[in-house]
Amino acid sequence: MIHSHDLIKKRILVVGANGMLGQRIINFYKYHSNVELLAASLEEEPYDKDIPYIIMDISKRDSVKDVVYDFFPDIIINAAAYTNVDKCEKEREIAWKINVKGPEHLAETARIIDAHLIHISTDYVFDGRTGPYSEDEKPRPVGYYGRTKLASENALRLIGPVNTIIRTNVLYGPVKNGRPDFVRWVIDSLRNNQQINIVTDQINNPTFLDDLVQGIYRIIEQKKQGIFNIGGLEFLSRFDFTLKIADFFGLDKSLIKPIKTCELNQLAPRPLNSGLITLKAETQLGYKPHTIKDTFIQMKKELKL
Ligand SMILES: NC(=O)c1ccc[n+]([C@@H]2O[C@H](COP(=O)([O-])OP(=O)(O)OC[C@H]3O[C@@H](n4cnc5c(N)ncnc54)[C@H](OP(=O)(O)O)[C@@H]3O)[C@@H](O)[C@H]2O)c1
Repeated sequence: MIHSHDLIKKRILVVGANGMLGQRIINFYKYHSNVELLAASLEEEPYDKDIPYIIMDISKRDSVKDVVYDFFPDIIINAAAYTNVDKCEKEREIAWKINVKGPEHLAETARIIDAHLIHISTDYVFDGRTGPYSEDEKPRPVGYYGRTKLASENALRLIGPVNTIIRTNVLYGPVKNGRPDFVRWVIDSLRNNQQINIVTDQINNPTFLDDLVQGIYRIIEQKKQGIFNIGGLEFLSRFDFTLKIADFFGLDKSLIKPIKTCELNQLAPRPLNSGLITLKAETQLGYKPHTIKDTFIQMKKELKL
């Protein structure tokens, strides 16, 4: 028997479901009775065994077509990307396939079935000279990762599905599987008495993953299109963020050594004075980011840190 609520269930396809953001989107929507979820990622096995899961490689057009035309989602959230900024500099072909061809394939299929595509981009589309940035400032990426993400934004606009681009920065939160986020890396390192070198000259507003999920939810519910910045409440250097982590979790601050970005000799240049102004999201979506302290309280509780 078909119930009336089945008829109005929203179908949401979460792409990159095993990533840091993907896991938190799944965690949020799995409890929504009016949503039919499908998780898609590259690995054989999903992290969350309670949710229908399918392997999908966004860099392959046929793989995307198979999944999208079969599931016929109302909403596609693209949380998949090649996110290793330094690797992107030397593995340019792979980075382009995942970060640009992937969104292109999603945009083409979304346009055909009239699905709303929500795509995650980054403050790395900016050069970091005059941050924090609002949505309408002119991008000028300094590294290849940023160039691919800007190209993905342009591809969405050109292909033209119903779409929303969310720019965000430095994601952290209660990630239970896969690689640890920055906060857990700091906690683990300091608890193991390892010295860590942290840059004092990269400034931005780190984004709690569940705040970003809240932003995505509001965009879906309000059917908002265009570009939205979703970032944290507080702007600070990575060094000061690390001190806050150590303070809150009672860790040895003397192990945190200040360093300048140029001393790290990384392959990819980083935007330094960056960060994202979230006024548009706050006024148009009702987006409300949490204080860093509140986000640490939630992480401590959920991860038993
Ligand atoms: N992390 C940050 O600080 C940050 C900052 C600004 C913007 N963003 C953006 O936010 C989004 C989410 O980032 P994240 O940190 O959650 O990323 P993540 O943890 O690196 O996860 C990315 C996911 O994408 C999947 N993936 C990679 N290639 C794929 C392919 N060809 N087909 C399907 N799935 C593929 C990965 O699978 P595997 O694990 O199998 O590779 C992984 O599950 C990305 O668009 C990123 O650019 C992130």
